[in-house]
Amino acid sequence: MSLEQEIAKRRTFGIISHPDAGKTTLTEKLLLFGGAIQKAGAVKSSKIKDHARSDWMEIEKQRGISVATSVMGFNYKDVKINLLDTPGHQDFAEDTYRTLTAVDSVILVIDCVKGVEIQTEKLMEVCRMRSTPVICFINKLDREGRDPFELLDEVEEKLNIKVRPLSWPISMGKTFKGVYNLYEKSLTLFTPSKTKVEEEGRIQISDIHDEVLDSYVGETNAKQLRADVELIEGVYPDFDVDKYLSGKVAPVFFGSAVNNFGVRELLDTFIRIAPTPVPRETTLRIVEPEENKFSGFVFKIHANMDPKHRNRIAFVRICSGKFERGSNYYHVRQQKNLRFSNATAFMAQDRETVDEAWPGDIVGIFDTGNLKIGDTLTEGEKLLYTGIPSFSPEIFKEVVNMDAMKTKQLEKGLLQLMEEGVAQLFTYELGKKKVVGVVGALQFEVIQFRLKNEYSATAQFVPQNIYKACWISSKDPKKLAEFIDSKQRHIARDKDDKLVFMAESRAWLQMVQDNFPDIQFHFTSEFKD
Ligand code: G4P
Repeated sequence: MSLEQEIAKRRTFGIISHPDAGKTTLTEKLLLFGGAIQKAGAVKSSKIKDHARSDWMEIEKQRGISVATSVMGFNYKDVKINLLDTPGHQDFAEDTYRTLTAVDSVILVIDCVKGVEIQTEKLMEVCRMRSTPVICFINKLDREGRDPFELLDEVEEKLNIKVRPLSWPISMGKTFKGVYNLYEKSLTLFTPSKTKVEEEGRIQISDIHDEVLDSYVGETNAKQLRADVELIEGVYPDFDVDKYLSGKVAPVFFGSAVNNFGVRELLDTFIRIAPTPVPRETTLRIVEPEENKFSGFVFKIHANMDPKHRNRIAFVRICSGKFERGSNYYHVRQQKNLRFSNATAFMAQDRETVDEAWPGDIVGIFDTGNLKIGDTLTEGEKLLYTGIPSFSPEIFKEVVNMDAMKTKQLEKGLLQLMEEGVAQLFTYELGKKKVVGVVGALQFEVIQFRLKNEYSATAQFVPQNIYKACWISSKDPKKLAEFIDSKQRHIARDKDDKLVFMAESRAWLQMVQDNFPDIQFHFTSEFKD
């Protein structure tokens, strides 16, 4: 097959949701359809439930599982689908943000009882930054949920995106009858089935006013559906694929993942409309996937489970050309060639050695410390993929070394954990105080545990009164120098040596911003001046 054909075959995406909306369940059903697993219950969730908060073994176990399920490749109707898993636990949200840089589109799962939840809003913000195409799946229709029109309004309002329903529920909860497919004008009746994947019986109803509808769903439901459809057609413009592809409109489906209902429709539409691997921005130019030369970037690093060996797996998203095992590729940051003889592909839950891979694919590369998140590999061109920023953490603590004999180990451990993206390290200009910033408190427990377990270092974390880490810049270098001078005690450097202002409170940040209008304050590490 040619490079173009390989690209046309591929869809690389992620599923996002607030915890418990049904991401894991939907993932499992998609794998069932793809024939990648045979029965329900085979996918272990990478989520860490609340009761496991202080259970170290549980965290370690979950870390192991999440390597296996980090990327799930499967084939469906001649399409090669790469599903990138994102951690369900919100304390690991940063990992999710980065994974979203490696996908071409997203399926967003919303619980019809709870509606749009806080984590969904944050994740959508990241999608919007990159104009990632989104399909919404409103889940749990077998429960008494909120009014579907109300849900759609909430999605538009809270997620700041236009929606277009492509299917519509007929009643819900105990009286849920099924969905009407507005696109294909067909009716699918609800038959709960948790374990099997059945060819759902679709009933073609080209004219919704046909009385045959009443015989399937009852007179009252039929009447309601007709009224709803009329309203939908009146309120929402026709579905426009281009608007979806540019991230402006999200098509919406209704269903029940656990009952396997509405999933096939979602998947069929997904393979039809979801983007094939898209062109990507670099520091030099936009790289097209069809270019013959290989290029890709690291979006995730996972430490090996065996603490005696420092091997790590770097997850590389291929952006252009063909990746061949055993080839030398250029590591742009380190300006040197590296040979990749042991790359791994991910198929459903197995890892297998891969000889070649194509744009949209993810390969796992065993690494002993050369690669870090955001690194670019090419066939020699000195370009760097952009759009893999760090976001300001939300909780900050100072690292205090508790074992002077193990200072080196602590430093090494911290460095390596930061390279894995477990947390962000900020080093103050004055006094070299080290402050770790994370999105969720659970991260500190993971860091402390891993420092001890893998590096024999003992650290304590002292809470800091910091509200946000803001990357700073100015068009006027003199003004920037003045600012740094006057705020010395609050200036730190991130892992890439970029300047960061550690703001103590929202109000204070506002005041500083007002007082220094020539300084730009950014909440992500990547910005354009
Ligand atoms: P997550 O990955 O987004 O966190 O959610 P997950 O799939 O684990 O689903 C969360 C809970 O919601 C699970 O129940 C799951 O069975 C249930 N669920 C998923 N889809 C549907 C649906 O369509 N209808 C209904 N009624 N429930 C659904 P649990 O009790 O937490 O776990 P389990 O014991 O059922 O596995």
